[in-house]
Amino acid sequence: MRTRPLKVALLGCGVVGSEVARIMTTHAEDLAQRIGAPVELAGVAVRRPDRVRAGIAPELVTTDAAALVAREDVDVVVEVIGGIEPARSLITSAFQHGASVVTANKALLAEDGATLHEAAEKHAADLFYEAAVAAAIPLVRPLRESLAGDTVNRVLGIVNGTTNFILDRMDSTGAGYAEALDEATALGYAEADPTADVEGFDAAAKAAILAGIAFHTRVRLDDVHREGLTEVSAADIASARRMGCTVKLLAICERAADGRSVTARVHPAMIPLSHPLASVREAYNAVFVESEAAGQLMFYGPGAGGSPTASAVLGDLVAACRNKLNGAKGPGESAYTQLPVSPMGEVVTRYHISLDVADKPGVLAQVATVFAEHGVSIDTVRQKGKEGAHDGAWLVVVTHRAADAALSATVEALRGLDTVRGVASIMRVEGE
Ligand code: HSE
Repeated sequence: MRTRPLKVALLGCGVVGSEVARIMTTHAEDLAQRIGAPVELAGVAVRRPDRVRAGIAPELVTTDAAALVAREDVDVVVEVIGGIEPARSLITSAFQHGASVVTANKALLAEDGATLHEAAEKHAADLFYEAAVAAAIPLVRPLRESLAGDTVNRVLGIVNGTTNFILDRMDSTGAGYAEALDEATALGYAEADPTADVEGFDAAAKAAILAGIAFHTRVRLDDVHREGLTEVSAADIASARRMGCTVKLLAICERAADGRSVTARVHPAMIPLSHPLASVREAYNAVFVESEAAGQLMFYGPGAGGSPTASAVLGDLVAACRNKLNGAKGPGESAYTQLPVSPMGEVVTRYHISLDVADKPGVLAQVATVFAEHGVSIDTVRQKGKEGAHDGAWLVVVTHRAADAALSATVEALRGLDTVRGVASIMRVEGE
């Protein structure tokens, strides 16, 4: 074994960074054996140096991240500060100065992964980011390497733990969205500002990363259609139950049937209780991958938190260190297909629509005509008279698969009917 240690610059020492540092110290012997050389911290860049950081020698702590990544003796930079800047500049500088990079930064990869990949390629360095999607769940490496010889057609996943916790609570207790969010906040799942999670930004960034790897093309955050779960009501969840479904916030990446384009989207959807993703409870994540040769694969586990994220970072760190030692380089970006990303309107899906209608002759026929005029075929219709009202009813329509544009045009036309008093809920149905 080589005795001269490999040096790691750690950018960020919050929940994830401190856990990375702890495991590097407590498992130093094992890591050295697995890598073939000892690995040690060259420095830890933080914003607030006065904070006590157990297990980290004070002389390693610096506020000058730019100087740390530019050090000649640094072999690998681990970036766990998040956000676009200064992370992008620091990572680019790390490559320029000869280091490989391990990052958990989903926002940056989804916003400007191309810049990072190009810089890594130019300097023959590794850019690894297993921790950016679903934390501990091995997903990026299986897609990038294990399935590199297969053709992935679909990735369907629950990639945000906070929202899965909220929906799971709504489903199991009948709570409304606000109540379930409060519980998620109290238990530390949801942040004080939960926007990134509940509006689907976090899941959309992960969808962009997954779609890019799965389909060997470039997909950016802006390419991902995004709807959060703030509009999901207890009534939607109850309606899903009546259909033998549950509601999940799904990230869905698909290759078009003709193979010439891809789509990526994040939105709440009903999935049948028999689908494996329906049994993913609490804050767990799971991703279902469908490929030509392998068939259906499911990856499941904790998708957030300090230790699970550190586990993914450490796996990448070991790989990057091994490559450094061997003068090798792992896989770079594979975006050769250059497939265009189609807009949401071209996605083919099913809708579940609840309508508040007048209960009189001809209403059902009128509603059915609107669907027919837009080329949308109805699968099932259920009508229930409103309790205590003599002229009102709930009409629940589930469609067959149709283009999303045709489905939303249908809903718009339904809103224009005098006999339709309101569209109570619209939700896509997936996983069948
Ligand atoms: N906030 C995310 C979640 C974890 O709830 O899953 C980090 O991406």
